[in-house]
Amino acid sequence: MPNQVTIRHLRQLKAAGTPIVCVTAYDQLTATLAERAEVDLVLVGDSLGNVVQGKPTTLPVTMAEMVYHTEIVARLTQRALVVADLPFGSYGGDPSVAFENAVALMKAGAQAVKLEGPYTELIQSLVAAGIPVMGHLGFTPQSVHAFGGFRVQGRGEDGDRIAGEAMALQEAGVFAVVLELMPATVAGEITKKLDIPTIGIGAGVGCDGQIQVIHDALGLADFKPKHAKTFVSGLELLADGLKGYSQEVRARTFPTDEHSS
Ligand code: KIV
Repeated sequence: MPNQVTIRHLRQLKAAGTPIVCVTAYDQLTATLAERAEVDLVLVGDSLGNVVQGKPTTLPVTMAEMVYHTEIVARLTQRALVVADLPFGSYGGDPSVAFENAVALMKAGAQAVKLEGPYTELIQSLVAAGIPVMGHLGFTPQSVHAFGGFRVQGRGEDGDRIAGEAMALQEAGVFAVVLELMPATVAGEITKKLDIPTIGIGAGVGCDGQIQVIHDALGLADFKPKHAKTFVSGLELLADGLKGYSQEVRARTFPTDEHSS
């Protein structure tokens, strides 16, 4: 059964000018939070390499890890459309390997896969095989070393390149495209030209929707990128709660009879 929010529903939101709310999720806690907040799209992002595994880039994330996290999030998500990232090295080479990997994510429960960059031929073949694909352009984290760091893309004439890639992805059949770290003017122009929804991260308010890494939005990560906004100081709140537990154990005020058998 498809979840409540479908790809068709996302297109209707774009047509109605209603912003599309997207967030990442990786496990039971984050999937439950995303459902309670009634977001439209949940991305099982390879950003789990950063915020779950504590690694500096997404490059080490494996297919087995993506399948593991996708299965958990998909099983616990009934409302939002669940999209899973194809990790670095799982789709750039042999198309039959890319196909097998996309199928593995769909079998784990994803309703669509996301891949970074202008891989139009591959996208066409996945879409033809019934696998919905989300694109990702601008700063694509799996290419961090090729970019020479976490750098804004699409400044000056480079904006035309990204706009051309976005159009090519639409023609190849993606149902939506993430636009990451690019001037708001560039993302806004792309959004006007495309029929499919654009989902921005560090790309301004002119996109059809926004996505944030859930740890950034909830203040659960030590490092906060410039494009992220902290909507609650999660780390401080939770650490205070745990300090309360620790103090009560040391003071022997926990457990009481109420918590004993
Ligand atoms: O992996 C991820 O979380 C992403 C988002 C930042 C778009 O790709």
